[in-house]
Amino acid sequence: TDAHTAGPFIAAIDQGTTSSRCIVFDRDGRIVSVDQKEHEQIFPKPSWVEHDAAEIWTNVQEVVASAVEKAGITAEDVKAIGITNQRETTLLWDKNTGEPVHNALVWQDTRTDALCRELGRNVGQDRFRRETGLPLASYFAGPKARWLLDNVEGLRERADRGEILFGTMDSWVIWNLTGGPDGGVHVTDVTNASRTMLMNLHTLEWDEKICESIGVPMSMLPEIRSSSEVYGTAAVGALAGVPVASALGDQQAALFGQTCFAEGEAKSTYGTGTFLLMNTGEKAVNSYNGLLTTVGYRIGDQKAVYALEGSIAVTGSLVQWMRDQMGIIKSAAEIETLASSVEDNGGAYFVPAFSGLFAPYWRDDARGVIAGLTRYVTKAHLARAVLEATAWQTREIVDAMSKDSGVELAAVKVDGGMTSNNLLMQTIADFVDAPVVRPMVAETTCLGAAYAAGLAVGFWPDTDALRANWRRAAEWTPRMDADKRDREYKNWLKAVERTMGWIE
Ligand code: G3P
Repeated sequence: TDAHTAGPFIAAIDQGTTSSRCIVFDRDGRIVSVDQKEHEQIFPKPSWVEHDAAEIWTNVQEVVASAVEKAGITAEDVKAIGITNQRETTLLWDKNTGEPVHNALVWQDTRTDALCRELGRNVGQDRFRRETGLPLASYFAGPKARWLLDNVEGLRERADRGEILFGTMDSWVIWNLTGGPDGGVHVTDVTNASRTMLMNLHTLEWDEKICESIGVPMSMLPEIRSSSEVYGTAAVGALAGVPVASALGDQQAALFGQTCFAEGEAKSTYGTGTFLLMNTGEKAVNSYNGLLTTVGYRIGDQKAVYALEGSIAVTGSLVQWMRDQMGIIKSAAEIETLASSVEDNGGAYFVPAFSGLFAPYWRDDARGVIAGLTRYVTKAHLARAVLEATAWQTREIVDAMSKDSGVELAAVKVDGGMTSNNLLMQTIADFVDAPVVRPMVAETTCLGAAYAAGLAVGFWPDTDALRANWRRAAEWTPRMDADKRDREYKNWLKAVERTMGWIE
């Protein structure tokens, strides 16, 4: 290993939508080693998406072992483990055997759309918004748990007997990591809990009335803890003996990793989906423009910090779809080369409403549309439309964010896998009409989990020490003609209209 990698270290586990990874960081927040492994995406029906939680746990153990080995270190060199995860993805498992009772229902899965409509009947989509910050949409975890209880044979009875545990992926990983075969601590953190639609944002506790309305027994829910504290000690694997000291939903972890600790600071993470979060301080700000109110993080027994969030379901996964389902490109990186081979979109607009539309529309009944097709359009124009879809969706969120918060974003701080795509970054700067800025460490999700874990064990003294690690690596400035931008935006919005009401 290099000279700069003198220990001790913090390890972060990111259990994401397409892969699980482990990154070892040093005290300067630099990456010492990485390992990553993809898991299977299971599509039993259109709009259903599942993961095999046992496969995920095996992968997590593998990437941890291999990251530790690549770093050339042992568990003694690691002061804490941080956990971050794809949010909302819902798993129920048997408390005694540790066996999942069904595949996990992934956040993109829309099978609960009818249930959510039913829950909102006569009251509307905002029935639980005041308490939870969320509209009734198939995205969130609580109704997914209810669907499993209703549809897996005998499950309701087993749950009533206290044999079943609920968890998002943070809970699943921590339970396995801290417990070995008998199971360990059953906890979640405030950020993950804020995505279940079962937690009251203001008390930070499970809301008894809402749990009852949605039909999820409180006895199966994990204990809600802060995002930065020691939950237990790893009992298995390459890091056995190391304290598990943070958990944050991946988007909140990225907010933390980008060191958005002050009110008004925001980041946008470009992964499977894209999520723009703005720190709103100790206030939970209501959204009137289709954003979510969510917990940003909570450090130990300090007050919780809230955020406004614009969630986009499909961005990177559209590039994957072009590769895996359409075979139009062979690698994700090829989308940029192909899109760069033409000047513009050739008149085509692609609205990837594969999981309905998330923010700011919240329409489970929408499905994807390619609009504006003529014989002129080539696959290169389509590739361009694919990238533009990510940029226009970002624009919609930024608009909603400035309306809700009254804060005009001076720049968009970005991170995530898609930020290596220069054309995309330039297009976002053009469509949003603001500079786009990327930090040195684009792996901010893992970094945020590592930071929160390091704070909990005193590896870093305070958030100021973390801020000092943030360094700008790249910046894109807008250079699009305003008239053209407005014309194109209108076309995009017209295409968005055409996705709605597809599912009756
Ligand atoms: O809310 C879903 C989000 O947490 C998924 O993130 O990066 O796995 O697409 P990602």
